[in-house]
Amino acid sequence: MKPKGQLPPGPRGWPIIGNMLQMIINRPAHLWIHRVMEELQTDIACFRFARFHVITVTSSKIAREVLREKDEVLADRSESYASHLISHGYKNISFSSYGENWKLVKKVMTTKLMSPTTLSKTLGYRNIEADNIVTYVYNLCQLGSVRKPINVRDTILTYCHAVMMRMMFGQRHFDEVVENGGLGPKEKEHMDAIYLALDCFFSFNLTNYIPFLRGWNVDKAETEVREAVHIINRCNDPIIQERIHLWRKKGGKEMEEDWLDILITLKDDQGLPLFTFDEIRAQCKEINLATIDNTMNNVEWTIAEMLNHPEILEKATNELDMIVGKDRLVQESDISQLNYIKACSKESFRLHPANVFMPHHVAREDTTLAGYFVPKGKTVNDIGLMSSK
Ligand code: HEM
Repeated sequence: MKPKGQLPPGPRGWPIIGNMLQMIINRPAHLWIHRVMEELQTDIACFRFARFHVITVTSSKIAREVLREKDEVLADRSESYASHLISHGYKNISFSSYGENWKLVKKVMTTKLMSPTTLSKTLGYRNIEADNIVTYVYNLCQLGSVRKPINVRDTILTYCHAVMMRMMFGQRHFDEVVENGGLGPKEKEHMDAIYLALDCFFSFNLTNYIPFLRGWNVDKAETEVREAVHIINRCNDPIIQERIHLWRKKGGKEMEEDWLDILITLKDDQGLPLFTFDEIRAQCKEINLATIDNTMNNVEWTIAEMLNHPEILEKATNELDMIVGKDRLVQESDISQLNYIKACSKESFRLHPANVFMPHHVAREDTTLAGYFVPKGKTVNDIGLMSSK
């Protein structure tokens, strides 16, 4: 039995700053944390950065306790310069704490944007992009007389970006159409900015733990996130503004065709627009950030594992031949029958979990994890759930 109120074990820290200095000296932070946890032989640890305590978890059993059993009590998020800017003041789902706004946007995401009706309405977009990616790969193979290797990551990124753009904005390119099926210069800029924003959000940043340093641009972190958000806004905003004008001033269209149409046309109880321009920008940015990297990682790892295990690749190919055959391309409706390939994807999630760090979960009230005490509030409140190595 652990004594009541005992925090998880952690490395000894300095007065006031805690483990801050060790963390800065030993970057990258996540590798140092894994090392410390191995030395302490623990699956749950507590690090102190100034007045904040961060509890890290590496076992799937405790992760289940965080995400399933204690999901509601650990549903708040921690505040940071990056998440504040990216979410336009916590107007999205992933960076905002539990509360009315979080419940509303989550409900809209699950019951409107991701509803079976919307998904079937937007099937055409995904079909176009499935065809485009096959043509793109075919064209890449045909370039020149020598067969060239295909960069799997670039190909998947191109596909994920294009699908996200179609579902969100109903168009694949911001302005000029690129004929070879790849990303145009503006889409590349958009993608780079999305990755820069993700990096800024997930990196260890001193000012998240010493708030009075905010505004001093420590490590140039603030400039970077501002630049990323500026580029994403420059790409997204004209489309959003024009579409708001179309729906709210010029009578709209016959029906909603994509996620942006839905966000603009939703009404509150009084029949007024549910979301403001800033709220719509925040949802769009959230979808920009949430849909590409995780999906790309899973496909890339699955293909990498298959290439390293040719017998698995052969089984997957046989399944495709059996269910789809060689006379047509795979359709979304085939997926329910492609059980072996789905199992491969799930296995690669197990071997290579989604994020090194997930967004922090913060305790809304005192609780326990693996028998250790996790108090509510400002002192001990961040749960950085780390993937196991
Ligand atoms: C293979 C693909 C994906 C993976 C592996 C993935 C993984 C994750 C993970 C690990 C989280 C954090 C959960 C937590 O902190 O409790 C998350 C949150 C989220 N994801 Fe995904 N995701 C994927 C695709 C998507 C897509 C396609 C969308 C939207 C169209 C999306 C929207 C979100 C949102 C809105 C959140 C925040 C949820 C919340 O805070 O309650 N994700 N995702």
